[in-house]
Amino acid sequence: MEKITGGDFASPETMRDFIVFYKRLTGQQEPLYRLDDFFGMGGAWLAFRHEDVVAILKDPRFIKDIRKIAPPQDQGEEPGQKYASVSKLRQWFKEMPNMLTVDPPDHTRLRRLASKAFTPHTIEGLRPRIQQIADELLDAVQERGRMDLIADFAYPLPITVISEMLGIPAADRDQFREWTRELLNASLDPKQEDTVSEVLDKFTEYIKTLLAEKRAHPGNDVTSGLVQAHDEGDQLSENELLSTIWLLIVAGHETTVNLIGNGIVALLQHPEQMRLLRSDPSLLPSAVEELLRYAGPVMIASRFASEDVTLHGKDIRKGEMVLVSLAGANVDPHHFSNPEALDITREENEHLAFSKGIHLCLGAPLARLEGQVAFGTLLQRLPHLRLAVAPEQLTYNRSTLRSLTDLPVLF
Ligand code: HEM
Repeated sequence: MEKITGGDFASPETMRDFIVFYKRLTGQQEPLYRLDDFFGMGGAWLAFRHEDVVAILKDPRFIKDIRKIAPPQDQGEEPGQKYASVSKLRQWFKEMPNMLTVDPPDHTRLRRLASKAFTPHTIEGLRPRIQQIADELLDAVQERGRMDLIADFAYPLPITVISEMLGIPAADRDQFREWTRELLNASLDPKQEDTVSEVLDKFTEYIKTLLAEKRAHPGNDVTSGLVQAHDEGDQLSENELLSTIWLLIVAGHETTVNLIGNGIVALLQHPEQMRLLRSDPSLLPSAVEELLRYAGPVMIASRFASEDVTLHGKDIRKGEMVLVSLAGANVDPHHFSNPEALDITREENEHLAFSKGIHLCLGAPLARLEGQVAFGTLLQRLPHLRLAVAPEQLTYNRSTLRSLTDLPVLF
């Protein structure tokens, strides 16, 4: 059996047909797979069974904070050092921690500060506004009969929502797509160290200006709330504040863009499911869960072993990277019946698209609502929606996120 490499996790083939790749993974007969190298970050362990992925994500011995990890004794260099672009990103996060890069108690503190804005109750209150944004986006293209579903709909919808929550002016939002996309493509490319630095600098400068603006003119938005928490007490440092805003901007749109894009591709490839959803919109909540399972954007999550751990007879040493395949767990036949089928009526759907444990996606209620509104509106308003290119011609960003570059459709 051909050995799996880190590059396979970002290849267009994997993005187009994950099941083929998954069969290669499971065909190796090892529940814990050893990768020689993961994008220059050194060797890594990979788990892909649902049961193992859940166990690792809930195990406090597997941590996020790279600052606590000394390089394994016989590896002189820190993981990531070989890849200048990865190294740059890591360095930035060391200086600019946020909830996704740290462990308790820092994680608990940083997550608590941001969590009020993301409760299901608060998020449900946004439904009319999200619907209005979705309708306006389709109004703008309706007459054309064609669009790039990513640029014209899937991107502007979540970026508008998160920007309004954060109090970011509408005129600034297009930059984020460019910066996020540059980061996405450059971070796995060793030659693009300068791009990573430049984009992080631009983002940092932008958020610094935004924070100054909110200090001078506080509003009723999440950024102003966090600035106030920083200024009134000693609850988060200036760098943590900056990085939290950065995380909310990036996590708050890039993933949902791809839920909408991948979800529509999956529905177009399963016309009977698409018909069913169109005829019965009460299925939207379960359809969103199934699309997250079947075509979720975040395919991998990573942790580090904080101590030596033995798992499935393998010795994982302190400091080593442990990857979990969320996409793999989501098609594990030991957990899901008929996992290769897209079934929007699936009832038991304990997918891991939002991860598990303490880092479970904070924005999940928002992503679910945006998904419901997006799919519901597209299906109702565009009854003749279809791909403008053959599915094999769809292209993906070079990233471990399942992320389409564009999605030409006719309607
Ligand atoms: C379909 C859309 C989305 C998917 C698939 C998704 C997926 C994920 C995953 C897998 C993680 C955890 C990664 C890990 O365990 O290492 C995560 C964390 C996070 N997500 Fe999302 N996300 C989505 C949308 C959003 C949105 C709309 C927001 C809004 C701001 C958001 C904010 C966050 C934050 C703040 C974290 C860090 C939580 C923590 O560390 O405690 N996400 N997301």
